[in-house]
Amino acid sequence: MDTKLRGFVLSVYIVFGLPVITAHNDPSNKIMEDFSGYPIHEPQSQDSLLSLSVDSEGLQKQIDELSTLSETPAPSVTRILYSEKDVLARRFIKNLMGLSGLSVREDAVGNIFGRWDGDEPELAPVSTGSHIDAIPYSGKYDGVIGVLGAIEAINVLKRSGFKPKRSLEVIMFTSEEPTRFGISCLGSRLLAGSKELAELLKKTVDSQNISFFDAARFAGYANHLQDLTSVFLEKGSYSAFIELHIEQGPILEEEATSIGVVTAIAAPASIKVDFEGSGGHAGAVLMPMRNDAGLAAAELALAVEKFVLESGSIDTVGTVGILELHPGAINSIPSKSHLEIDTRDIDEKRRNVVIEKIHQSALSISENRGVKLSEFKIVNQDPPALSDDLITMAMESACQELNLTFRKMISRAYHDSLFMARISPMGMIFIPCYKGYSHKPEEFAAIEDIANGVRVLALTLAKLSLA
Ligand code: GLV
Ligand code: MN
Ligand code: MN
Repeated sequence: MDTKLRGFVLSVYIVFGLPVITAHNDPSNKIMEDFSGYPIHEPQSQDSLLSLSVDSEGLQKQIDELSTLSETPAPSVTRILYSEKDVLARRFIKNLMGLSGLSVREDAVGNIFGRWDGDEPELAPVSTGSHIDAIPYSGKYDGVIGVLGAIEAINVLKRSGFKPKRSLEVIMFTSEEPTRFGISCLGSRLLAGSKELAELLKKTVDSQNISFFDAARFAGYANHLQDLTSVFLEKGSYSAFIELHIEQGPILEEEATSIGVVTAIAAPASIKVDFEGSGGHAGAVLMPMRNDAGLAAAELALAVEKFVLESGSIDTVGTVGILELHPGAINSIPSKSHLEIDTRDIDEKRRNVVIEKIHQSALSISENRGVKLSEFKIVNQDPPALSDDLITMAMESACQELNLTFRKMISRAYHDSLFMARISPMGMIFIPCYKGYSHKPEEFAAIEDIANGVRVLALTLAKLSLA
């Protein structure tokens, strides 16, 4: 460890009112020296150390300002990929990255990268980031604190006088949420080199029949090409990737624990199903003559719940978040139905059993009801991801050094980290959120908790940058 990291660590202690320690009696020296392999020198002067703190007020203002770039009224936030609001929000992020002195680049789908060059820029950088797109009528913290918080972590490091060895990079991922094109973690999946997705996007349209490429061009991306392989990153492009995120569950708040150190991310899958019947007049067609696509969908939705509960594990979940009937008139028997099913588990095999049961059930419902199963498409069936031990250790020692309580936990929600884990060692930092609420307007995280997450992120980035 050199003077820079030493100064940074001391600064953190001073800012949080912890005892001022010297290079000689600091109990964290050994851990950090062991970790980084760098010798500890004398600390920086008090003046530069005192300047360090998370700018909580500024960060809260940014979170609030970003939340106004929404397609639905406050307190809800809706920010859909490549929409006008999304373009404005991207501009907001790029501007902040610029103000933090990061060099900004964007790839063909609009993943945004802000880099702070380290002393040894030829080494694989350490990266951190998350997303700012927001599902319909959601809140203002999901993803956002992992982008704004990452930029603030860079500011914290800069204000401390820290100089990275490995470059540090903030990433804002394109479309973590599947809202517009039905594909979750679109940007990070591509970064991780998904050839299937690069092909699929050539024929992907949204619900308004706008193609992915037209939508991307509206936002200023994918200008002259349909080839998205330029987005792919090599394995080893980063020495580490870390994502800061609200827990989206109640554990940290209930236990009054400051930080969740994520050890694994549950395996998500999503399925699209279409049934077709003959429709007809709601009064005139007698019950024995019907083949109602709406009832087929209703039966399948209940079957999803049954199969999930049959797994016997609290970790298996399933949701029918979209159920559409055509033509959607009270006096018309639905002739078409469309369902989108989300199912997840920390146990991939158990989740796959549920998927197979859903498939068999769709086939038998179609036969029994005389409706056509016109589509049964598994959109994604992803494996879980494990965090990297060295990164979780770095996070845990950062928590200890910052005197913050922490616990290990799994992430039931998916994140861009699930895909970054394919090309880089990965870790995630969770902070508490009110009652675990997420994906609804009531989502809330206290700025003190966010600031704690930023501190842990900053210190972990510092350690990993010097590793
Ligand atoms: C991410 O938004 C998820 O649905 O887990
Ligand atoms: Mn989300
Ligand atoms: Mn998220």
